[in-house]
Amino acid sequence: MWLMALSVPLLPAIVMLYSRYRVKVATLCQRALAWALRLTRGRVCVKSTHAFVFTNCTHGKVDSVLETFDLYAQTHSTLCIGPEIREVLDEAVRRVRPLRVLELGTHCAYSSVRLLRLLPPAGRLITVELDPVTADLGEEIILVSGFKHSQFQVLTCSSAEAIPRLRSLLGPDAGTSEGFNLVLMDHDPQQYLPDLLALEREQLLCPSGCSVLLIKRNQGADDLRGILDHIRGRTECYSIKTELQCVMEIFYRK
Ligand SMILES: *[C@@H]1O[C@H](CO)[C@@H](O)[C@H](O)[C@H]1NC(C)=O
Repeated sequence: MWLMALSVPLLPAIVMLYSRYRVKVATLCQRALAWALRLTRGRVCVKSTHAFVFTNCTHGKVDSVLETFDLYAQTHSTLCIGPEIREVLDEAVRRVRPLRVLELGTHCAYSSVRLLRLLPPAGRLITVELDPVTADLGEEIILVSGFKHSQFQVLTCSSAEAIPRLRSLLGPDAGTSEGFNLVLMDHDPQQYLPDLLALEREQLLCPSGCSVLLIKRNQGADDLRGILDHIRGRTECYSIKTELQCVMEIFYRK
């Protein structure tokens, strides 16, 4: 009761604030809604993909896991990457032969599995996923494919939180002080540029050469504009290797 009495004099102020910041409030609400929708939709999608693959694949056989993903994708919409991106990804891994790979956005772990199967024996993958449920399901799929925890690590946090921790996770053994040789970005496109800058700042891009693959999910040209501007301003260390409608590969060398 007293709360109501207290809020009555505040009402004009609230109305005034609301009308002044109406557009901003509306934008914020829209963003929050879009984020919540993306999260729930993403989770539903990941859960049903996971259930299908987990029950229908031959455990321990990486090819069977990938085929079962494909089978699912024939009849359902999924977050798995399409054939065009697969080709670019496989080709990049075969060419670079990376020892250290970073993936931002694990999703169903389809691309994690695809990457891991082509890594040299000493190769290692660190994959970062913001949503804890998705991260757990993804980790299970990687294990079901026959890979061991000595070959990969799933970090459950935002990319911004993960990047400053990566140096210590790479470990002191030979060849790893150089950073990553391959980075796959498939998380929030708004984060692509800030994360690339953070990776540069933390010296996590291998100076002798690092391939950065950027997945374009919603075909939005705007998503990568910031990154493109950045690269064009630094042609001494960046070049564009491949540019397709749904994926772009840039190459970093210092
Ligand atoms: C396994 O595959 C069959 C046949 O394609 C499908 O009907 C079934 O729903 C799948 N299992 C799960 C748990 O999705």
